[in-house]
Amino acid sequence: ALVVRHRIKSSGKWARTLAILKEFEEKCGTPISKLKQVADAMTVEMHAGLASEGGSKLKMIISYVDNLPTGWDVSVVEHCHILISELFVLGIKHDEKGLFYALDLGGTNFRVLRVQLGGKESRVVKQEFEEVSIPPHLMTGSSDALFDYIASALAKFVATESEGLHVSPGRQRELGFTFSFPVRQTSISSGTLIKWTKGFSIDDTVGQDVVGELTKAMERVGLDMRVAALVNDTIGTLAGGRYNNPDVVAAVILGTGTNAAYVERAHAIPKWHGLLPKSGDMVINMEWGNFRSSHLPLTEYDQELDADSLNPGEQIFEKMISGMYLGEIVRRVLYKMAEEAEFFGDTVPPKLKIPFILRTPHMSAMHHDTSPDLKVVATKLKDILEISNTSLKMRKVIVELCDIVATRGARLSAAGIVGILKKLGRDIVKDGEKLKSVVALDGGLYEHYTKFRTCMENTLTELLGDEVSDNIVIEHSNDGSGIGATLLAACHSQYIEVEES
Ligand code: GLC
Repeated sequence: ALVVRHRIKSSGKWARTLAILKEFEEKCGTPISKLKQVADAMTVEMHAGLASEGGSKLKMIISYVDNLPTGWDVSVVEHCHILISELFVLGIKHDEKGLFYALDLGGTNFRVLRVQLGGKESRVVKQEFEEVSIPPHLMTGSSDALFDYIASALAKFVATESEGLHVSPGRQRELGFTFSFPVRQTSISSGTLIKWTKGFSIDDTVGQDVVGELTKAMERVGLDMRVAALVNDTIGTLAGGRYNNPDVVAAVILGTGTNAAYVERAHAIPKWHGLLPKSGDMVINMEWGNFRSSHLPLTEYDQELDADSLNPGEQIFEKMISGMYLGEIVRRVLYKMAEEAEFFGDTVPPKLKIPFILRTPHMSAMHHDTSPDLKVVATKLKDILEISNTSLKMRKVIVELCDIVATRGARLSAAGIVGILKKLGRDIVKDGEKLKSVVALDGGLYEHYTKFRTCMENTLTELLGDEVSDNIVIEHSNDGSGIGATLLAACHSQYIEVEES
């Protein structure tokens, strides 16, 4: 009788586990009808954000990039309207002079790059980079401490310039600064931080010119370098993507955070009061991570994650999609199962209580586990959460949970892309005209989480239909953001004269 009672009790718990899973799955549902509403809402918000400053949750930031370098037809210099006589000065004829630096800050790591740019024939000749991780305490400390740390890493990297890759004597080094947070640009090489995202929270940087902050830190460590361009990673990816493929119209980052940029017609930006650029174009950094709509399938877990975050009420789209948060959503659901359905036995495993302990790469590894007994899931549970003795049935629940969270994020990001294509009028085939649109994608989530990527791409086809999909290409822009920042730095070098546009 005791055994029977035990079975009934545990089957009750199992039923509760499945009920929690099922309810979560329903709340996360993204049928096509809903995704279309999300895409439409995105387009509407894009219009509102372009109409006036503060007109929408979408900031639609004017990047001051109005001319994207194209590597195919012309050299970077020509494309940037540099006077022919100045070609020599930039060093396109003298390779050692076309050297630019880039600094890429946007997650828990930052990168420093040295890129040798060539002209028409040689394009990117050589590049070297180094990756440095940011100690967590600097992400929530003081502005000076963070920028000093970065500047000294940069100085060390500069000191490794070799015979073949160095700046010519007497010439100041120039840097493209990829700073992947919402910045109100005031020119191509200056801008103030609107707010931090992705786990950074340093009050005294907000409202400051981040180029000023970096420049002061470089002076403090004795590094003589000029920031020639300040760009968001989406802008860098767009520039780098376009350099390789002139059909690139937008760039999307799916990484620690998520965001998109695209090429807008300047006259379609009512809030732009500057001169109409010669190209007629202006690149817009959407900051789509902050998108929010009643159509988004938000659950109680998302609401709690948001409330406990460093930026409550903000970056809601990002919190449902990006790499920083997916693993954490899974942890929160598992925690609920442990607490309310004794999923892991009669106590809640202590490690499961620790926010962000389950990272998205762990989740991805479990989600992709193809072994018949789900060994990888067992190992991750043991190594990360110190949970052992899980049954196969339990591990299957966990894989299912990963699938629900990743699928929702991937499908929502596809809806976001459709929103952009709609804004550009590229979501339909016009009079049989086959307009090719390429979207440059980058970021760790896109690169490493195969099921996420596949689901996102399939959903795009599902949303657009076969005929349109044939003309939409998703292209992995490998480190477009680093290269792009250097290209833009080259375009805005002090050693070249830019034609007035
Ligand atoms: C966050 C930042 C944004 C960046 C994105 C991807 O959303 O606010 O500027 O582009 O992450 O790194």
